Amino acid sequence: MATEIKPRKVLDKIKPYSPGKPIWELQEELGLDKVIKLASNENPLGPSPKGIEAISAGLTELNRYPDADTAALKEAIAGKLDVKKEQLIVTNGADELITLMSEAFLDEGDEIVVPSPSFSEYDFGADLMGATVVPVPFDEGFQFNVQKILDAITEKTKLLYICSPNNPTGTYLSKSDFDELVAAVPKRVLIVFDGAYSHYATAEDYTDGLEYVRADKNVLVLQTFSKVYGLAGLRVGFGAAPETVIQTILKVKEPFNVNSLAQAAAKAAIADDEHVNASIESNTSGAKELYQAFSELGLSYVETTSNFILVQLGPDAEKLYNDLLAKGVIVRYGKIWGLPEYVRVTIGTKEENEFFVEVLKEVLSK
Ligand SMILES: Cc1ncc(COP(=O)(O)O)c(C=O)c1O
Repeated sequence: MATEIKPRKVLDKIKPYSPGKPIWELQEELGLDKVIKLASNENPLGPSPKGIEAISAGLTELNRYPDADTAALKEAIAGKLDVKKEQLIVTNGADELITLMSEAFLDEGDEIVVPSPSFSEYDFGADLMGATVVPVPFDEGFQFNVQKILDAITEKTKLLYICSPNNPTGTYLSKSDFDELVAAVPKRVLIVFDGAYSHYATAEDYTDGLEYVRADKNVLVLQTFSKVYGLAGLRVGFGAAPETVIQTILKVKEPFNVNSLAQAAAKAAIADDEHVNASIESNTSGAKELYQAFSELGLSYVETTSNFILVQLGPDAEKLYNDLLAKGVIVRYGKIWGLPEYVRVTIGTKEENEFFVEVLKEVLSK
């Protein structure tokens, strides 16, 4: 029987998230043997081996509920990042934290400010609560413009998102610019610093935002175990912020939001320096290989401080994106970010990068 129940009005605005196509789906659709996915900024080296060991050890305890307070994991994060346990909240992926912050701070009619294009979940959280998204365009070369960001803040602004390195551009906000923002933004606005890709950012003037949390500034730093730690499938993220901010967000958190295997694996992965360093090294050399290939093909790209590259394929980008798909290479098409001439490619293993470049050459020469 068809239902007549009406959804909340704000849902009219919300379209379900469209993730990159999974490998199996493309394989089934096109009967391809080899498919590579460079579309979701995952770690191509795989999960932290120490994380996998911790999962095996935790299997026999699955009859128990997980620790609602994620105490052991918080202790590990606090030790690693030099913040207090009370300044941390652990969530079911950083995505959940974005939703929880939206639920905790946004009333209908409030505003969030987002240098754009950026990660779509900020808009989702605002839309869900009936709040308004105020996008701030980047300058030339997708550079942040602090003055434009400050100009966008109004009486209604509650959250300012700074994604650095920014997804999908790979550009970052310098420490001096962030200092300026922190000093100028009114205290009634929480600055959310999304450092999902912080580990990959090695520039001298980069900040991962954590020093501001240690100094008890009005900043929440969000990080995830889905990228450099290679645990995207487990769904663990966290926020570090002043204790009062954390206390507020905890009010809307479900008790058992992070499962026990995820907690155990994340605790082991954060101590797995070998895996983290190998992942960063592989990413740095992969970026160089891809830059060189793009230059040889006469394609412009945005220099990245992250594990993905935004590359300009020109007016035929959509066709080229589909041609790549048909040959087993999944990247992200830029139209979703208002960048119809671009694709975003995740830096893969050496072998994946080579396969991507080979197929890119083929589709460009057609
Ligand atoms: C900028 C940014 N923030 C947050 C996330 C969410 O990460 P998680 O997998 O922990 O939900 C992503 C995932 O792609 C991201 O790109």
